[in-house]
Amino acid sequence: MTKFKLALAVTIFGCVFTVGTVSAVHAKGDKEVYSKACKICHGSGMMGAPKFGDSGAWSPRIAKGFDTLRKHAIDGYMGCPPKGGKMSLSKEAVVGGLAYMVDQSRGILKFASSPSGDIFMSMLDKKCIDKTGSNSNSAEAHVWSCSDNNKNQIFDVIARGSTGTEKFKFISLKNRFSGKCLGVAGASKADGAKIIQWNCLPVGNQAWEVVKSKTDNSFSLRFKHSGKCLHIEGKGNGAKLTQWTCNSKKPNQRFELYN
Ligand code: HEC
Repeated sequence: MTKFKLALAVTIFGCVFTVGTVSAVHAKGDKEVYSKACKICHGSGMMGAPKFGDSGAWSPRIAKGFDTLRKHAIDGYMGCPPKGGKMSLSKEAVVGGLAYMVDQSRGILKFASSPSGDIFMSMLDKKCIDKTGSNSNSAEAHVWSCSDNNKNQIFDVIARGSTGTEKFKFISLKNRFSGKCLGVAGASKADGAKIIQWNCLPVGNQAWEVVKSKTDNSFSLRFKHSGKCLHIEGKGNGAKLTQWTCNSKKPNQRFELYN
């Protein structure tokens, strides 16, 4: 599942930014172009080039938006030569090389405002973070069967850290359907406080640190204001989201990206 979906995500990406529409023509990230034209500098981080696979180095670049990176890869930018110096490459090929490099370097999070957004699946019973029907402030969050096209489950990641490589240290999750952000009700610091949506604000009870697991691809989400973690109470569709004292061994506090 993961491989296929990843390829699909890159496809959509390449196309959106290449021709402004989704088609299957300008396929996916192109490893070959990367190896031929970009690796010589980006593979080692030569002359300050953001290094392949280094999400810290790529985060502030990614925060500029793919459109800007695409333009810079084609036209050149500071020490980066146009088309990596291989002028015979087509624009599409350069974008393919770029898409491959970025996709392998963005860490566990996709682009802020990537066309596909992010869906968060629980390690407990493979249900996904979902926002209940209502679009108003205070609507509670819960988990539900995962779906690729339910906007209640799709979130854009907003950088909440300071500038530079710290930018993505803290993130907020903005729901695609309501445009509101998940946070702890009343900025409570107590175990069991519920997670609701509210207008997006740069506040600690809407800011999470992504804490990666040392053993697998999962991660937990730790609130900046309380130091507590996103937590699922109970099981199955409709189980509520709360904050709770962090315990990285608990599957109901660990999540993976669904797509
Ligand atoms: C001759 C070395 C070199 C090659 C080859 C090269 N780059 Fe770069 N690239 C750099 C350097 C150096 C920077 C950092 C520029 C800076 O910010 O000072 C950079 C930065 C970038 C950035 C970030 C731009 C931004 O807006 O922050 C992108 C995107 C990029 N390169 C894409 C590519 C792609 C795609 C290829 C291959 C087709 C490629 N580069 C080949 C040296 C290179």
